[in-house]
Amino acid sequence: MAKYECDDKFKSFLQELPKCEHHVHLEGTLEPSLLFQLAKRNGITLPESFPPSPEACIERYNNFADLQDFLDHYYIGMGVLIKEDDFYDLAMEYFTKAHNDGCHHSEVFFDPQGHVERGISIDVVVKGFDRACKDATAKFGNTNKLIMCLLRHLPSAAGLETIKSAAPYYENGTIHGLGLDSAEKPFPPELFTECYKYISDNFSNVGLTAHAGEEGDSTYVTRAIDQLKVTRIDHGVNSQHDQELMKQLADNKTMLSMCPLSNVKLQVVKDVSELPIDVFFNANVPFSINSDDPAYFGGYILDNYVAVHTRFGFTHEQWAIIAKNGINGSWCDEERKIELRNKVDEVVAKHT
Ligand code: HPA
Ligand code: ZN
Repeated sequence: MAKYECDDKFKSFLQELPKCEHHVHLEGTLEPSLLFQLAKRNGITLPESFPPSPEACIERYNNFADLQDFLDHYYIGMGVLIKEDDFYDLAMEYFTKAHNDGCHHSEVFFDPQGHVERGISIDVVVKGFDRACKDATAKFGNTNKLIMCLLRHLPSAAGLETIKSAAPYYENGTIHGLGLDSAEKPFPPELFTECYKYISDNFSNVGLTAHAGEEGDSTYVTRAIDQLKVTRIDHGVNSQHDQELMKQLADNKTMLSMCPLSNVKLQVVKDVSELPIDVFFNANVPFSINSDDPAYFGGYILDNYVAVHTRFGFTHEQWAIIAKNGINGSWCDEERKIELRNKVDEVVAKHT
């Protein structure tokens, strides 16, 4: 439970600290209010099993049994996204909230297979999201990158088809990364080796990541690194149980994109204080702090920072290290990293 205070002054520090987000699913930023608005706009009737109002959603979202229980809602929820403008509006809402939270760089996931299987063209999805990315940069001065995720409950062959259909966007840099999400445990990383290899063989400068070690054990992390050649890991909580892996993560600066409030809502831990955040920090395992599916898990990036602060009570200097590890683990260019690291120093100097 909360052991440390995060008073208004410290909260302002955390808000101003230049943050990078590496683990947020754009479809997971679909707030109940926008969800019902889009359902109406697109004439979509939600299934009987879905909560009937935004208020009922909020209530339901407090009671996810596990990852699969959440995913069942998440896939239904994204069914209201039909037109390019829907995808644009969704992403723009996220970028606005992230900007207000002091997030300067976002690398955002999206799940094209969840849309294509409903008859929505990947072009509609990517164009809407890409337009929002560009407008957000123009409006807020942030930087951002799109990461396409493959759904691991679908066959690898379907993933490969999806990659091929997205090839023009990888070629022209509209999509910058490949990720792997959805139900983890029965679908280990190595099932998707050919998909990751196809990306490395055919496109240059594409970032590789995968969800691993959220519900899966530490070998999921090892297997994602060894077989998929990922350079970072999404979640990675269970890495804590393998000391050799911890050393490898620290030595190779393989960043874990952690999602504290998500881990509580999906019953990975009972409270943020049970997460090995201090263990990772003390072992020099780099991590960033992220919101995952903020519309479902009750908090955006700043809420996650505050939740961590109230459990671990990091000093300004320790927060600067965490923020800089997030910058270093980002896929933006070196010039942008220098700019962001300098901003961290400025904010720390102002607040200490
Ligand atoms: N884990 C796995 N897949 C996901 C998640 C998550 O937290 N959110 C959206 N897809
Ligand atoms: Zn996730």
